[in-house]
Amino acid sequence: MGGLTYFDFGDDFTFSPDKKKPFYNWFYYKEAFSSGFVEKIIKMLDLKPPFFDPFCGAGTTLLYCKLNCLESVGLDCNPLSAMVSRVKTRNYDVGLLKSILEEVLKFEDADKKEWSFKFFKPEDVFPRKSLSDFFALKKKINEIENQREREFFLIALTSLIPQTSFIFKDGGVLKIDKRKKLMPIRVAFKRKALRMISEASLLEGVEPKVLVGDARNFNGLKFSSIATSPPYLNGVDYSKIYGLELNIVGGESEGFLRSFLLSKDMSLVKDAYFEDMEKVLRVFDDCLMEGGTTALVVGNSVVGGRMVEVDKILAGIGEEIGFKSSIIVGKERGIRHLGIPSVRESVVILRK
Ligand SMILES: C[S@@+](CC[C@H](N)C(=O)[O-])C[C@H]1O[C@@H](n2cnc3c(N)ncnc32)[C@H](O)[C@@H]1O
Repeated sequence: MGGLTYFDFGDDFTFSPDKKKPFYNWFYYKEAFSSGFVEKIIKMLDLKPPFFDPFCGAGTTLLYCKLNCLESVGLDCNPLSAMVSRVKTRNYDVGLLKSILEEVLKFEDADKKEWSFKFFKPEDVFPRKSLSDFFALKKKINEIENQREREFFLIALTSLIPQTSFIFKDGGVLKIDKRKKLMPIRVAFKRKALRMISEASLLEGVEPKVLVGDARNFNGLKFSSIATSPPYLNGVDYSKIYGLELNIVGGESEGFLRSFLLSKDMSLVKDAYFEDMEKVLRVFDDCLMEGGTTALVVGNSVVGGRMVEVDKILAGIGEEIGFKSSIIVGKERGIRHLGIPSVRESVVILRK
């Protein structure tokens, strides 16, 4: 195994640098890395297309590839993530989007108020003045015939949860804060949809394929490069944290990596995570062409009071499978509240 090298990626392992960037910021995904990371790692490692991101999240790798004319494929087990990634990387007929928006904005009260999100009632999530507008907008959007335009406006609506609802994500958990200052959903939706439409006019080029599925069982396609970030060990519970958003766009998510288990025995969580990641690395071995490279952003973690060096363990598993591994440490994340000054965030590089 190659040793550790260091490169300061600054905030590139976070969504922050892309918060104000067109397309990237259509959907706030706290767990995303930034387009700057994708750009730097492609240059550093001389990565070649076709690219694969099997944990594509909000589609950062796919969007960067599209904007730079690089072929790519994305996969995520959460249909919400797949939809966000598709919406950000499609080409649109802007005239059609404008005329559909005009129609959507003529919404009237929805007769049926369908709600199946089991953790909170709709009255807990939205203030009274936004609640009926939310149901009416959702109904109007779901009546749009073409999938391309329907998904565009569904994501515009769903992306507004942070600023229009009482929900807030506290660490990995959903909570309600009734004191939150909120924007009325009809104002926020119109503004967001108009901005997305004006930016959509700049999207062109090849659309990546975005699939819903489990990275542990993927097969059938070949790639030169994989640039991705799996869930961090003991990080957020992806099956819950975007539960409301998934409920709004519709669909079931299953097959999440066992990175976050509600178990008293923390060693079980750790074992399950590495069992799953071994399956994932074997999939990478199958779908990488000879000479291909994987760049995997991971975070070390404290489990049951002990530091787990996720980067080194994954590099070791990669070596056993037959890859040549090395690690670039990109960031030290402070975690003094856990009694340890910091943990590494790194890029594990596996070359075939
Ligand atoms: C750290 S996020 C990836 C963020 C992404 N790099 C971006 O910039 O948006 C991890 C993603 O892995 C997905 N995921 C978890 N388990 C999975 C599995 N078994 N197969 C595919 N995707 C999975 C989650 O839904 C989540 O979107």
